[in-house]
Amino acid sequence: MDEPLSVRYRPLSPACGVEILGLDLSATLPQQTVDEIRALWNEHIVLVFRNQKITEEEQLQFASRFGKLGDRKPPPKKLKERTEGVLQNDQRVMLVSNKTIDGSPIGSFGDGDMWYHIDSGYSKNPYTYTFLYGVELPSEGGNTLFGNMYLAYESLSEELKGKLANQKALHIHQYERRARVDISGDISEIPHWYHPVFVTHPESGRKSLFVDRLMTQRIEGCTHEESEQLLEKLYAAGENPSVVYEHEWELGDFVMWDNRCAIHGRTWFDPKESRLLRRCTIEGGPLYEELSEYSQNRLQL
Ligand code: OGA
Ligand code: MN
Repeated sequence: MDEPLSVRYRPLSPACGVEILGLDLSATLPQQTVDEIRALWNEHIVLVFRNQKITEEEQLQFASRFGKLGDRKPPPKKLKERTEGVLQNDQRVMLVSNKTIDGSPIGSFGDGDMWYHIDSGYSKNPYTYTFLYGVELPSEGGNTLFGNMYLAYESLSEELKGKLANQKALHIHQYERRARVDISGDISEIPHWYHPVFVTHPESGRKSLFVDRLMTQRIEGCTHEESEQLLEKLYAAGENPSVVYEHEWELGDFVMWDNRCAIHGRTWFDPKESRLLRRCTIEGGPLYEELSEYSQNRLQL
């Protein structure tokens, strides 16, 4: 018989997200606790721990219990200054911040709102997980929004599900925070990848919509107009308030999410105020539409 869960938690919204109570993430947690956290993560997509006090090293230690720590993706040369951040000196850590030192950004993602996206969804192996720790916050706004993409998938009409089954979409890196990439010219220099429109989560076995407004630009195998119409419906499904949890940050919040079944975005905040979050990730692998493809493709390696 399964051991009863010892980790205490409470739901944060009907869409997704639970707050886990009573854990100190700076400590080395027993494996049983880590296993329970992972089980809750598979079910609830977004986990929140409040009032944490953790160093960069402790954050990396905790995150590494869930897989291989991800490296920041190198930016193209001409954007290096803007996206590298003068204080980002560990390849595995990104400072999500609008702060500057002598006019140079200390980290990435600047200020204001940010359209919904999937972290590194434009790559062959998108990050499985992202972890953010709240260090400095504006007095209001800068909330992080999470769309439950299982629910988004389930909300689509049977007709749309049928039409887009076995179809792929182009995901392309967008360095702006609220604009679409112009893909009418040569995109060979911009990182991009085609993923199935619907992917099956390898651990939960559930199907989710894998499309976001910031970086998914084109459905393969249809006209430009049709692609635009379909994408608008898909963006809207993931951003529907009924599938979204909005996280209002408090200092010391530690938030972790699963990029395979969630999109996330950010609400506006006053650029005159400072915001700083410390981010790390876990590397992922290719995503497939059917569960059986994961084992088939592993066998071919
Ligand atoms: C990220 C991200 C959103 C935020 O760190 O990947 O999208 O609220 N952050 O700053
Ligand atoms: Mn992000």
